[in-house]
Amino acid sequence: MRLPTDYKLTEIQQQFIREKLLTDEFIDMTRETTMPIEKLMAYYRCVIMEIETKFRVLNEQLSLEYDRNPIESIKTRLKSWDGIVKKVRNKNLPFNLKAVEENINDIAGIRVICSFQEDIYKLADSLLRQDDVKLIRMKDYIANPKKNGYRSLHLIVEVPIFLQDETRLMKAEVQLRTIAMDFWASLDHKLRYKKNIPAADAEVIAKELYECSVISADLDSRMQQIKNEIAQAELIE
Ligand code: GTP
Ligand code: MG
Repeated sequence: MRLPTDYKLTEIQQQFIREKLLTDEFIDMTRETTMPIEKLMAYYRCVIMEIETKFRVLNEQLSLEYDRNPIESIKTRLKSWDGIVKKVRNKNLPFNLKAVEENINDIAGIRVICSFQEDIYKLADSLLRQDDVKLIRMKDYIANPKKNGYRSLHLIVEVPIFLQDETRLMKAEVQLRTIAMDFWASLDHKLRYKKNIPAADAEVIAKELYECSVISADLDSRMQQIKNEIAQAELIE
């Protein structure tokens, strides 16, 4: 049920809340349940830092080796508590932190943007070869784009975070994309979240977007090819 934005509690309701709900027991209970949430979210912030650092290290090393940076940019995000609760609802999960941790894989999100497609696989491979990184699931939407044209490489990984007195394995979603894939995905994202576009117009836009995804895939492979040709010419020089 959604209350109108100007909904006001009556004095009787306020009194009921004060006397029956805001008891000391209730305050203790909220403290006990929110503390673990804050702790869990802090752990997810830590795994984001760990994985971001892993990519920054790889970027540094590969840039020495190839004289250019394979990573254009890295974006990270922690799923909001609202987003988590909505996913619990949509996936019909039991509402407790254990179920959240076990079933929601994208609370920690790391998006790595590269110029060239081959760098995506090189980086993913280097990440997955590290001793402390465990691959849980991979979805290669570059080799197999989604029906709408979406392309990216998705990895769900599990990585340890080293705390004062324990080591904890945390899951994270890594999305690797080229600049062209990211450009396309951000426009597609806008379309997905606009609710008031008439169905017929949305269909036309979706078709246009699909055509752009084909052009963008072609651009990626041609840019890669040119880059390879330049590298080849440099070798011969
Ligand atoms: P969730 O979508 O996270 O519930 O899980 P899933 O199992 O469907 O994961 P998938 O790997 O397919 O997609 C995860 C994320 O990739 C999404 O949350 C988006 O950030 C991104 N993504 C997937 N498909 C699309 C798409 O068609 N368009 C755009 N813009 N982003 C997409
Ligand atoms: Mg998601």
